[in-house]
Amino acid sequence: KIVPVIMAGGKGTRLWPLSRAGAPKQFLQFLGEHSLFQKTLQRVGNSDLYAPALIVTNTEFRFLVAEQAQTVDAPLSAILLEPVARNTAPALAVAALAIARDFGTDALMQVLASDHEIDAGAVYFDCIRLARDTAQAGKLVTFGIQPTEPATGYGYIETGDALPGGACTVARFVEKPNRARAEELLASGRYLWNSGMFMLPVGLFLEEIQRFEPAVHAAAEAALASARRDLDFDRLDEASFARAPDISVDYAVFERTAHAAVVPSAFAWSDLGSWDSVWATGDKDENGNVLGQKATVSATRNSLVLSRDIHLAVHGMEDIAVIASEDAVYVGRLADSQQVGQIVKTLAASP
Ligand code: GDD
Ligand code: MG
Repeated sequence: KIVPVIMAGGKGTRLWPLSRAGAPKQFLQFLGEHSLFQKTLQRVGNSDLYAPALIVTNTEFRFLVAEQAQTVDAPLSAILLEPVARNTAPALAVAALAIARDFGTDALMQVLASDHEIDAGAVYFDCIRLARDTAQAGKLVTFGIQPTEPATGYGYIETGDALPGGACTVARFVEKPNRARAEELLASGRYLWNSGMFMLPVGLFLEEIQRFEPAVHAAAEAALASARRDLDFDRLDEASFARAPDISVDYAVFERTAHAAVVPSAFAWSDLGSWDSVWATGDKDENGNVLGQKATVSATRNSLVLSRDIHLAVHGMEDIAVIASEDAVYVGRLADSQQVGQIVKTLAASP
């Protein structure tokens, strides 16, 4: 069986004011009944394919994780807590070491981001099975999404030679190119976006971490060896884990390894990273508006209006986002959604 590893320690600031330091986007129920984290758990709920999930998250989010998992009846194998945030490479190194200890180095782990919207239909599970077979044959597998714009927030994967079953080798992996480079990569037609989800043979992944980032490997090993059990949580040792360099798995491993493969993936996927992508994936009314529970609009088109607590009425607007939380309101053009993170920085810096 595949061991699902859900990364739920990120702090996503571009969805302010709904996404806050204490409750980042993966735990929000901004559209629909379940959070993105809960939907991620549901995608790995098939017990023919999957073992119970391993969650790696920050200490701060431990009760959110435990409560939300319980609400959807998801069986968990462990909740590993990072005392300090060191990005995804150290988080995944610890997860891989825990799985190698419990299931052996031949085990497969599927890494999932906890903040993506994915249509988990037949196409999705065909991709998962192909990834599993490709990983079993000794590859670190990524899932490649057809790009639609020169986005700078994603990794880009150049496809190489065809492998048996339909996957390809990775000729090159470019994490988060600048705008000019992203435009070149898109125009070449040879690149796919990295979905941020991976299928990895645990032993090979650990060898590559050891090869490229030995300090990450050493810190992860020490942090796990001295981990402390607390209720249902495994607290990693702070002094050891803090020694890990702050680096994402994309830079640490995927830009460098010779063993990467990509499964070209045609399922609907969105990194709900900003208000424009929430609008794009949401259910629209006849005027193209995506509306939350307490939102009322008139003479308004192609807008996103969300509110959980207070009533929000919008009149005579177009192409905007109006987002209200219990103590803050954001109004801006949907096209400027990438700038919200900047506002949050300004707010954080002001007294
Ligand atoms: N446990 C843990 N610890 N999880 C973390 C940490 C951490 O320190 N930092 C981030 N995460 C989690 C986030 O919550 C998210 O679920 C996932 O790891 C990915 O982190 P992001 O910070 O959202 O990464 P990104 O979106 O900038 O880039 C990644 O995803 C893109 C697709 O959305 C990369 O893999 C890109 O190559 C990829 O295109
Ligand atoms: Mg992301």
